[in-house]
Amino acid sequence: MYGTALDQTQGVGGITAPEPVGWRLEDIDFAAIDPVLANENEALLLLLVASSFIESGTRLYASNLVVHFEGDHEVSAWLAEHWEPEELQHGRALRAYVACVWPSFDWDRAYVDFIQAYRPLCTMGKLEARRGLEMAARCVVETGTTTLYRAIHHRVREPVLRTLLRHISEDELQHYKHFFRYFRNYQQQERSSRAAVFGALIRRTAEISREDTDIGLRYACAERCRGTTHAPLPFDELQRAVRALLRSSVPIGLAGAMWLRPLQLGPYAERQARRIFSLAARTVMACSA
Ligand SMILES: [Fe+2]
Ligand SMILES: [Fe+2]
Repeated sequence: MYGTALDQTQGVGGITAPEPVGWRLEDIDFAAIDPVLANENEALLLLLVASSFIESGTRLYASNLVVHFEGDHEVSAWLAEHWEPEELQHGRALRAYVACVWPSFDWDRAYVDFIQAYRPLCTMGKLEARRGLEMAARCVVETGTTTLYRAIHHRVREPVLRTLLRHISEDELQHYKHFFRYFRNYQQQERSSRAAVFGALIRRTAEISREDTDIGLRYACAERCRGTTHAPLPFDELQRAVRALLRSSVPIGLAGAMWLRPLQLGPYAERQARRIFSLAARTVMACSA
């Protein structure tokens, strides 16, 4: 299935140029969707809607990143020519999938409401002041998306969605590799301490855990309640269902390896840190059930 996992995170420093977009939305055969398998799990579909909102809102924070890295031509070019178009394609692809499975779902209306709530959160003040630390924080975001899409892929049986999720999670891993490489480049000049890098990782983790997905889910759920003819899933029940889904499927080992990598620990410290990460992640997920 996925042959990437930890090995691919090892070679981050070896990437010399951005890869071209490896797949196109036009290549996805949406007509081949199996409607029975596609409708197996309402919470999972609502999570896909929430993800499509966040991916489609990429421009809000992409413009902040472009300002933050102004003058760094390599980073600016990669953000504009690869990263942003790929994130937007993720949003379009997930939206198109949901439109096939739930034709009556008014994505546009829900997205307008979502963006109103989401826009105030995408401010320059949320970025790390030092460029290298912002690159480390971006690694946290891409760790989250890589492992989220892998977790959903693990739970899905519908073949078209499985293909889509594989493409998207592979893109997210490539994004991680680029941000990590840029982080290492900036570290050569800025030399932020390990404590400073750890602080940036923790801050961005706290921010994305409490904001993005919950806002997306809230507006996805609200629209589903408006548009559906059967009893809708209450929001708190949806949150519990999504957490249960992620708790059993998130690849914690991979998440730990990716999250910890910007700390550039030695082998022994890294092994210990991975154990602590795994324990902390399982505890947090159990407590939020
Ligand atoms: Fe994405
Ligand atoms: Fe990404």
